[in-house]
Amino acid sequence: MSQSPAEGSPAVQQLVALIRETTGNVIPPARLAFLEEVAERRAHARGLSGVAAYVHALAARELPDEWGSLIPLVTIKESYFFRAPQQFEVIRQRILPELVRARSASRQLRIWSAACARGEEPATLAMLLADEPALAGWSWTIVATDLDEEALAGARIGLYGERAVAQVPPDLLARWFSRRGKLYELDSGLRSRILYQPLNLAHAPFALPWDELDLVLMRNVLIYFRRPLQRWVISQVARLLSPEGSLFLGASETLWQIQDELESVDLGPCFAYRHRESRPAGEARPAPSLAKAPERPRAVRPAPPLPSKPPTPAPVPPPAIREASPPPILALPGVHERLLEAARELAANRIAAAGRAVEQALAADPSEPSAHALEGFLHDLAGRTDEALTSYRAALYLDPALFQVRVLLGDCLLRLGHRDRAEQQFREVLTLLAGGRERALVLFGDLPLPDRERAQRRARQVLKGG
Ligand SMILES: C[S@@+](CC[C@H](N)C(=O)[O-])C[C@H]1O[C@@H](n2cnc3c(N)ncnc32)[C@H](O)[C@@H]1O
Repeated sequence: MSQSPAEGSPAVQQLVALIRETTGNVIPPARLAFLEEVAERRAHARGLSGVAAYVHALAARELPDEWGSLIPLVTIKESYFFRAPQQFEVIRQRILPELVRARSASRQLRIWSAACARGEEPATLAMLLADEPALAGWSWTIVATDLDEEALAGARIGLYGERAVAQVPPDLLARWFSRRGKLYELDSGLRSRILYQPLNLAHAPFALPWDELDLVLMRNVLIYFRRPLQRWVISQVARLLSPEGSLFLGASETLWQIQDELESVDLGPCFAYRHRESRPAGEARPAPSLAKAPERPRAVRPAPPLPSKPPTPAPVPPPAIREASPPPILALPGVHERLLEAARELAANRIAAAGRAVEQALAADPSEPSAHALEGFLHDLAGRTDEALTSYRAALYLDPALFQVRVLLGDCLLRLGHRDRAEQQFREVLTLLAGGRERALVLFGDLPLPDRERAQRRARQVLKGG
């Protein structure tokens, strides 16, 4: 494991469960100490005697407005303009021209940035759309949603720090931002094309202004959810995505083994997901394979407020209903036991059994970097290099100091002919090792993973052109 498991007090364990039920987010063991501190601070702010009293009051629904304060503290808000620029380039070059053709009659585009944090992602899209000559005079709106209302309030104000705008090309920075002391204010005209709404992906319904979407960006949020919830969220998105629509996930996220209604389409530097049967524009949408959803409103309406009461786990409904509501929270076996089992199976060359154990580990804790690393290793062994890349990226997204994963990722990139990107990974390996900041995957002693010396040798060899 990259970090030793911390159990946390019973009250903190209960808080972890409440957060998972309410927001879908899994709090990894490594963050339990931090969560305890947060709960202590919140207890103090609410005039309660301590963490146990705080969690008790939250569970008893005695603090209806507390989730609004807690969520910003326990969710990850990392985002910046032009994050994963290759996706925006593909949207500009490939997706928009296709959509312009498909929507030439209505001259309307319906775009959703789900889990938009403080609005960096929808604003990046808005810059792209505003500069697209073919969209002049079109009606396009981006609906930008997040669970965190504080983040949405920040997005509406539109003030960003140096780090958030660091990747904005200079001409766009000059056109769309004004300096406000140390901050940058996003152009209010551009902000007015974005509709900021609260929406919790862990609960039905997804109240959006439209019942069909042309483009969905749902990046770097599924990674914090367990597989059953990931599957449910994607089934909702699939139902909303138009026949010509595309879904983009984060670079470290995949729908592999999650669902098969949408298929991944290779767009060169990145992937998008689309309906399996792509149809020419204007053709009727096939009957969705999921249970029919309730009618959706055509007019914009505010999303329902975040549930102030955490939902109680429901009994498992029959399959026809199950897809209309998020999956119940089930007690899943511990991630560490499953990973040990996976490593044992793999060492004994029982690949399928190892795969099942990794799958269970990821179901138990999707934010465990070692589980993604081992999943990548299994993909790698099976020659699924693209999938291995995604899993290794997921592991590194969650723990950037895993130097062995960087070596594996670097080797995958070399095999795919991306030498520049591979070299970047190997340079990072050397930097981590030189600074003593590296972390190893210690659980997998039997696997042929490079130790520090071998990783260093391999990195130097690659950087010398080997
Ligand atoms: C790492 S940020 C991703 C921001 C942006 N999509 C990107 O890729 O740069 C994750 C965001 O997901 C949001 N989030 C977490 N759980 C959520 C949920 N159940 N429903 C909606 N948003 C959620 C968090 O509040 C946070 O803003």
